[in-house]
Amino acid sequence: MKQWNELTTAGGTGVHPAGPIIAARGLTRVYPLEACEVIGINEVDLEVRAGELVVLKGDSGSGKSTLLALLGGMDRPTRGCLIVAGQDLSTAGVWDLTRFRRVVVGMVFQSFNLLPTLSALENVCLPALLAGVSYGKVRSKAMELLAWLGLESRVHHLPGQLSGGEMQRTAIARALINDPPLILADEPTGDLDSANGHRVMEHLGELNRRQGRTVLIATHSTLADPYATRTVRLKDGGIAEMTWAD
Ligand SMILES: Nc1ncnc2c1ncn2[C@@H]1O[C@H](COP(=O)(O)OP(=O)(O)OP(=O)(O)O)[C@@H](O)[C@H]1O
Ligand SMILES: [Mg+2]
Repeated sequence: MKQWNELTTAGGTGVHPAGPIIAARGLTRVYPLEACEVIGINEVDLEVRAGELVVLKGDSGSGKSTLLALLGGMDRPTRGCLIVAGQDLSTAGVWDLTRFRRVVVGMVFQSFNLLPTLSALENVCLPALLAGVSYGKVRSKAMELLAWLGLESRVHHLPGQLSGGEMQRTAIARALINDPPLILADEPTGDLDSANGHRVMEHLGELNRRQGRTVLIATHSTLADPYATRTVRLKDGGIAEMTWAD
């Protein structure tokens, strides 16, 4: 994906001095149901520069998850223009979308989405193995990531043998294994107690501040607020307010 290569630096941080990593214009997702249509998001214009940490807020049903799914190439817009890391996601073919999801985006979900029969280490390795990287390389990188997240003593545990916070940190390691420049997290602290929520946010904040990754977090919690470079408030599928940190 040529455009994505152009956005990476030699260090692979995903920081590019010029131009947005996300550019959305008139972005709309309508869910057609049998009796009616439901608006997920409506006419959203949003630009995010590489290196920002954007917190998406808004009432339940305001469109946060819908927007993240579109930005992550997991869903298609009904209309509007969406370019992420140089890839036009409104027109991309299936193959380009698959590559985009593998190379550009690391997704972190509230419900972790770990495979229950694989160990923490194997869960983390999987996306890189699917991308064709050798097991030796992947394993040592996965071990490094899990150690960075404080999980070195849990690498051989199955998800069912981990706490919620440990599962979420494993899911973060998995999201990072392919070095994505863009991290999208949907309620990453929603199922965690306050101490684990803080810990997860510290890691997401560090990925942004120290490593320059672009991070978008949809959340109802205030835990992400100290790390935000910008807060975007959604209402009824549209952007109601944007606030930049000082
Ligand atoms: N697959 C779907 N089919 C139909 N409607 C949907 C679908 N997914 C979301 N919606 C609707 O789109 C709107 C936005 O939903 P979305 O999940 O993006 O909200 P949200 O801001 O993430 O809410 P929450 O804070 O509860 O997670 C809601 O009205 C929702 O009912
Ligand atoms: Mg949601």
